[in-house]
Amino acid sequence: MARIIMGIESSCDETGVGLVRLHDDGTVELLADEVASSVEQHARFGGVVPEVASRAHLEAMVPTTQRAFATAGLSMSDVDAIAVTAGPGLAGALLVGVSAAKAYATALDVPLYGVNHLAGHIAVDTLQHGPLPTPCLALLVSGGHTQLLRVDDIASSIVELGSTVDDAAGEAYDKVARVLGLPYPGGPPIDKAAQNGDSAAIAFPRGMTGPRDAAFDFSFSGLKTAVARWVEGAARRGEGIPVDDVAASFQEAVVDVLTAKAIRAAKEQGITTMVISGGVAANSRLKELAGERCAAAGIELRVPKPRLCTDNGAMIAALGAHVVAAKRPTAPLDFSANPALPV
Ligand code: KG4
Ligand code: ZN
Repeated sequence: MARIIMGIESSCDETGVGLVRLHDDGTVELLADEVASSVEQHARFGGVVPEVASRAHLEAMVPTTQRAFATAGLSMSDVDAIAVTAGPGLAGALLVGVSAAKAYATALDVPLYGVNHLAGHIAVDTLQHGPLPTPCLALLVSGGHTQLLRVDDIASSIVELGSTVDDAAGEAYDKVARVLGLPYPGGPPIDKAAQNGDSAAIAFPRGMTGPRDAAFDFSFSGLKTAVARWVEGAARRGEGIPVDDVAASFQEAVVDVLTAKAIRAAKEQGITTMVISGGVAANSRLKELAGERCAAAGIELRVPKPRLCTDNGAMIAALGAHVVAAKRPTAPLDFSANPALPV
């Protein structure tokens, strides 16, 4: 009998409530995906302010839940299980979602699952492209994470192959946008500006690609500093800043390193399916270059649509469905959020 799973996400600045139907054949169908974002409240600070995010989650949780059930045409009594992001993320923000999930699970007397946000970013792909072939390689790129993961089982077995040693890829976009006088979040305006620029105009550094660097780790802080220095130099000389060329050259440095390392990891591990997810997966050049390089290497590339790539509740509901299908243990009611939860 098909089951209805509710997913709750509150790890950063998006309050998400998703509803999915887990079919008997293991496929997962998206029924509702409601998100309330506090991104505009953080814009003037140039980054997420944890206290502001927590308060916004508190205000948005119940209305977002109500909208999700209205969209799906379901009532809360239809829910068979609840999954909530247990981490990683901002402590105060996570607590709001975990507390709401515990309250709903108690009131409805349904099982509760604490799940990993990063695994959710991968699981969401099954809503769009169907069951995920395993093993697969996941490249997670967002404002908070940059990770290469090997997925052997989405519900129980994910291994980290590499991660950023400093800034996340999206964070680099946000910081470079600030240097260029573009709005926050910086990914979309840089993506747009880069389309009119020359990606070979400026040779920005490719971090951690030297022979002694860890094979699958990333570093973007040197690149960010190089862009800032370049812009300062041009300003000092009284030259105008060619924003489009700087954006395109910066972006090329980011996506070149991301795709090169992901392809190398897939080849070394003998993996033929790659998923790219997280907010930066919306990037047009990343999708283009990854598409070219995956095709050349005989790797199937799966990139969920942008709406599913950014933080949302549907990804947690989707992961919850896979966890329910795998008969994983439920969370005790006194379980805590873990801001540093490993994958
Ligand atoms: O997944 P997400 O919504 O939130 C988390 O950080 O978890 O990702 C947001 C990040 C921001 O840093 C934003 O600048 C970046 O994703 N982003 C993009 C694009 N759209 C959003 N980066 C590059 N190109 C884009 N088109
Ligand atoms: Zn995320």
